Parts: sequence; C-alpha cells; structure tokens
Amino acid sequence: MITVIANLKGGTGKSTVTFNLAVWLRSMGRRAAVIDLDPQRTLSDAAALRTEEGNEPSIQVEAGTFPDVSLPEEAEEIIIDVGTADLESFKQAIMIADRVLIPVTPSQADIWSTQRFVGFLNKNTHGNPPESITFLNRVDTAKASQASDEAAAALNALPGIHLLPQRLPDRSVFRDSFSEGLAVFELEPRSIASREFTALAESLFGHVNRSMLDRLQKQKTSTAVDPALHRALETPAARPRMADGIGYAAAVPTYHAGTADEQWVQAQQQGSWQHKTESGKRRKKGKKAKKGKKGRKGKKKA
Ligand SMILES: Nc1ncnc2c1ncn2[C@@H]1O[C@H](COP(=O)(O)OP(=O)(O)OP(=O)(O)O)[C@@H](O)[C@H]1O
Ligand SMILES: [Mg+2]
Repeated sequence: MITVIANLKGGTGKSTVTFNLAVWLRSMGRRAAVIDLDPQRTLSDAAALRTEEGNEPSIQVEAGTFPDVSLPEEAEEIIIDVGTADLESFKQAIMIADRVLIPVTPSQADIWSTQRFVGFLNKNTHGNPPESITFLNRVDTAKASQASDEAAAALNALPGIHLLPQRLPDRSVFRDSFSEGLAVFELEPRSIASREFTALAESLFGHVNRSMLDRLQKQKTSTAVDPALHRALETPAARPRMADGIGYAAAVPTYHAGTADEQWVQAQQQGSWQHKTESGKRRKKGKKAKKGKKGRKGKKKA
C-alpha cells in the first residue's frame, strides 16, 4: 500500500510522522520503504543519522524526484514524504497514492489550509482522490483540549476526509528522538508519547503481534505472495493512477511472486535493497560515488 503523508501547510509533522511510522513498521517486521520527495531531505538526513549510529532496524529511504525515483519493488508498505518545494513530485505522489495521511496542527490557519488541500487533492486527481485520512498533531496538552476539539469538529465537517480519533500531543520526545535518528517508542518506550504513537500507527496499519520477518526467516523456502503489494497493484482504482501518474509499471516491471519474501530477507541480511531495474542500479552507484566525495559522516558531525 502506498501512503503519502502530505499537507500544503509546512511544519505539521509530516517528516516526523513518516519517520516514526517507517521505524514502527520495520520494527514489526513489515517490509516498509520510504520515499523522500521533499527537497529539504529532512527524512533522508534522519535515516542517514540512524544508520550512522547503528540503530536497528535501519530504514531505507529513496530520495529524489518523480518520475526518476524508483519504488522499491518488494515493499509491502511504501510511505512517501512530500513537500511543496517540489510541487510536481507532490502531485504525482498523490496520483499513485492508495491513501493520503494529513497531519494537522490545531489552529484556524491549519484548518483553512486543510480545506484547500482537500480541493487540491480533488483537482489533481481529476475528481478521483485517494482515501484521505487526517489526524491532529502537536496538540497542546496544557490548555485542556478546547482548541483541539474545535479543530476536530472543523475537520469532521470537511467532506471527503476521515478524521482519526487518535491525536498526538506536542511532546518534546518527538523532537529529541528525531534529532537522534530514533523513533519516539525507541527513545522512551514506556512513555505516554510512545503509547499514543503506537495507537496511531495501529489505527493506520493494523495490529501486528509477531515479527513477520522472524517468521519469514524461518520459512526460507516460502512461496507466499506479498498480499498487500499485490492488492495495491491490482486495485482497479490504483492501477490507472499508477500507470498514467509516473509510469509506475515501468519502475516496477514485475512482481516476483513466490520469491519476494526470500529476496526481502536476503536484502535485509545484506543491509541493502535489491534494485532490479538498470536505472535503479545506476542511481544507486551514482549516489554511492557522491556520498564518497562529500563524506556524509563528516558533514553531519560538522
Ligand atoms: N507531536 C509532536 N510533538 C512535538 N514536536 C513535534 C511533533 N510532531 C512534529 N514535531 C516537531 O515539529 C517540527 C516540524 O516537524 P516536521 O519537520 O516533521 O514537519 P513537516 O510537516 O515535515 O515540515 P515541512 O513542511 O517543513 O517539511 C519538528 O521540529 C518536529 O520535531
Ligand atoms: Mg518535512
């Protein structure tokens, strides 16, 4: 499933939520990948820091611009972080989305902006928008919850958008963990913030009681098909969007039923993604060369 985390308004927590969801999914053993389409590359930086610090599980981020960025073919869940600085990629991400998750901070300006965003979604999908889900982020814990309740009522009144009851309060652990390349539930596993975030993640991706990766590693000869990705590719509503959106079919030429699980496990063990397309390989090589020149680690610490 492709989930795009989006909002026309800046600073509502898109990258923070994307990062935490990606780590949560990977911790649950789900085959999750992240695409960073925001030229600010906040998410890529956090993921790079996480890797440098040796935090496991690592999250794989493909950063770039549509249509050049490749979608990891074996991913079960793809989360895309977008930014208005690259509006073309933003629009194309919406075209291939199965759903859009809209973090909203509880203020009047955010409500107006979200209202506009719903119009933007409709316009850019020719009246066939993906499922649109919203939730309140950075809710003020001090001032009871009147402002949040008013914002929730306003969001509820917007047509074509579903408001989740789960809210994320403004808690410093979100900032602290992100700047260390950690998810909230890793830095403070027993905190209330961790429970709140888990509730949000479960409402979006369902409950996962046992590590799928562990199970797959035990079943080395598994021939199971990845049902989520298969469903996403076969969804009648999704297919035309994927096809005319960014040439998804070209980026993901074949779905290797029967071997995907094994490839995934292998890729995880090697700590790398398998890029099947030639262009994917070229990009990967180019990136490595660039990183070598710049010296990412040096840059970070400076
Ligand atoms: N629930 C939260 N509690 C406290 N701080 C938060 C929370 N969610 C996000 N933040 C903080 O808010 C700031 C903006 O978050 P983030 O960068 O994720 O927003 P964004 O929507 O991706 O912004 P941009 O539009 O610039 O890409 C960051 O400092 C982040 O740590
Ligand atoms: Mg961002």
